Amino acid sequence: MSITVTPTHPEFVAELSGVDLAQPLEPGDRSAIEDAINRYAVVVFHDQKLTDDRQIAFARHFGPIHSSAQRARHRSLKHRLASDEIADISNLDGDNKVMDQNARRRLDWLANRLWHTDASFRAVPGALSMLYAHVVPDEGGDTEFADMRAAYDALPEAKKKEVDGLVAEHSIWHSRGQLDVTRYSPEELASLPPVPQRVVRIHPGSHRKTLYIASHASHIIGMPVPDGRLLLLDLIEHSTRPPFVHAHRWRQGDLVIWDNRCTMHRARPFDTTKVRDLRRVTTRDVASTLEQAA
Ligand code: OGA
Ligand code: MN
Repeated sequence: MSITVTPTHPEFVAELSGVDLAQPLEPGDRSAIEDAINRYAVVVFHDQKLTDDRQIAFARHFGPIHSSAQRARHRSLKHRLASDEIADISNLDGDNKVMDQNARRRLDWLANRLWHTDASFRAVPGALSMLYAHVVPDEGGDTEFADMRAAYDALPEAKKKEVDGLVAEHSIWHSRGQLDVTRYSPEELASLPPVPQRVVRIHPGSHRKTLYIASHASHIIGMPVPDGRLLLLDLIEHSTRPPFVHAHRWRQGDLVIWDNRCTMHRARPFDTTKVRDLRRVTTRDVASTLEQAA
């Protein structure tokens, strides 16, 4: 059976049906999914039944897997999931219990509520993220996506000229600092030093220009920090106006894939005394954005 692609939004986001991702992936289906990601940036599959191992095996068809930085950041904690290849995006602790309001990992996880793009704070950042829903709350907890190619296209020409060629410094500690989550050990801080990334890059799958910014981006290299920070805030505000944003309402069994190279995303609030169990596998980009065409 072949894959059907149904666009959800005028510019980006599509639903894909006609494939069972728990089965070995056929080459034709793999390329149909890749083409849809390149065109739509966010693709949604409903009613899937994936184990962690199967989710990892599926992701491997699309590139090498970025091992999660969660363990590096929370060295002393008991972790719920067995593999570094899968990130725990739930509000559950190592014993499968809803985390206390002040639990360290919960406070760190709350930074997903800021607009961001996965692993932009690593020298070789994330490419595709694949988030699978095991348990979702009845209300709230949507994930919102912003279309950064359309946002770039809509900038005035003078602004495009101003931002083309700029390089931002990205750091995970900058995004956490915005929420006053700062209690990390010197070893944890040292494990993820800041990295430079281009502000405008060419999206390899579509050859379109795209903004590459968000909450890990702290400032612009070579510009006074407040000027760079204000420029980044303006670009985020511009990119998250309604025409560029889509909200995904989760159902159990959804797998959503997004391309971090040309989107931002954020989690929306929900009653965090209820269980929300999502797990993510992310593929690695080929190199730092500075080593890629711009
Ligand atoms: C992620 C993420 C958002 C959410 O998995 O990278 O940011 O809604 N998730 O849980
Ligand atoms: Mn994320």
